[in-house]
Amino acid sequence: MPSVLPEGEPAPSDGSLPEQVRAEIPRRPLGIYVHVPFCTTRCGYCDFNTYTATELGTEPGASRSSYIDAAIEELGLAARVLGSEAPAVSTIFIGGGTPTVLPPDDLGRLITAVRDHFGLAEDAEVTTESNPESIDSAGLHRLRELGFNRISFGMQSAVPHVLATLDRTHSPGRPLQAVVEAKAAGFANTSLDLIYGTPGESVGDWMDSLDAALSAAPNHISVYALIVEEGTRLAARIRRGELPAPDDDDLAHKYLIADERLAAAGHTAYEVSNWSTTAAARCRHNLGYWRSHHWWGVGPGAHSHIAGVRWWNVKHPAAYASRLAAGMSPAQAREVLSAADRRVERILLELRLADGLTTSLLTMSERERLPDLLARRLAVLDNDMLILTRDGRLLADGVIRDLLD
Ligand SMILES: C[S@@+](CC[C@H](N)C(=O)[O-])C[C@H]1O[C@@H](n2cnc3c(N)ncnc32)[C@H](O)[C@@H]1O
Ligand code: SF4
Repeated sequence: MPSVLPEGEPAPSDGSLPEQVRAEIPRRPLGIYVHVPFCTTRCGYCDFNTYTATELGTEPGASRSSYIDAAIEELGLAARVLGSEAPAVSTIFIGGGTPTVLPPDDLGRLITAVRDHFGLAEDAEVTTESNPESIDSAGLHRLRELGFNRISFGMQSAVPHVLATLDRTHSPGRPLQAVVEAKAAGFANTSLDLIYGTPGESVGDWMDSLDAALSAAPNHISVYALIVEEGTRLAARIRRGELPAPDDDDLAHKYLIADERLAAAGHTAYEVSNWSTTAAARCRHNLGYWRSHHWWGVGPGAHSHIAGVRWWNVKHPAAYASRLAAGMSPAQAREVLSAADRRVERILLELRLADGLTTSLLTMSERERLPDLLARRLAVLDNDMLILTRDGRLLADGVIRDLLD
């Protein structure tokens, strides 16, 4: 079943925020994430909080048809909690799960509700994720008319035996066709997700997948190392010895191949796992996460962050809907970060960005470790910004561990 939520302290049932953080609300951009917890089938590697029709059963409140009403109810709660000082929303990201298993007009109702409750910035980025099998050309045109201007498709691989190991149901060419159709429908910003390191994937297979993704010319590509999540079918098959576990050297080699091939085709890494053709094509919503902006995560299991207060909603769609129906916040628990926690979190997140991390955030002893990182060519200094090199990005987690007090 899907991944486990952290513990934290109890969250107030009315969703209210600690008084001392309210002053920060107008000072940072606000993004809205809406989680759509439905998929047609579950991919063998995925432990996201998502449910097929069979997994969901017939529990009251959990149906696909009533879900958007519950999400809109939470948007109303968000508007009441944040109050009149909340800025107009600058990014909306509908993620999942597979948002496009719902009719486009249902997704459009979410945009309308955000506009009604908060106002939507003139240049707002409005993204939906999609499984390329779950949408057609007419659906893409409708999403555009409703106000979506960015779409991100799960592709994972172009190689049939890799897709089969991942339990992906689409044909290898469908994601590429979906990008072409999205562009024809007027989407200026299109993205593909790829996964490397699937058991049985050769280096040649990986190059073919990269080349296929590039052939559709999206202006954004996300590249993820396969994570073997506990409790998934993939993990069980590896444990039984049916498939080999991903190999660290193979993963490292494939990351470097990705960066070289994507760079040769005009894509620059702006974050460890994300490449785009221009600065304007970067995902502004995700940049908000990495820059510790404010976001409200709507939906079961969704996480939110306002001024160092993080909270997360109950996971099951039926529990989520019943809390909202009872007039309660769907938050399960929260944590209030101290100033020291917030500093460490900024370092963890900002060092992943190509724009780098301001060294003014570092303590004296952390700064003393910089010459070693520079000598090992894991990072460079540009004025006071510390920026990971390609090798540094590959070892990002280790670099951060070595740097922090
Ligand atoms: C919500 S899905 C994208 C949209 C749609 N559900 C789909 O899969 O086509 C987000 C992305 O997370 C990535 N992902 C999910 N589980 C992963 C895992 N175990 N390891 C690496 N990447 C994973 C996949 O690349 C996937 O496209
Ligand atoms: S379609 Fe996407 S969210 Fe759904 S199970 Fe597959 S990877 Fe996970």
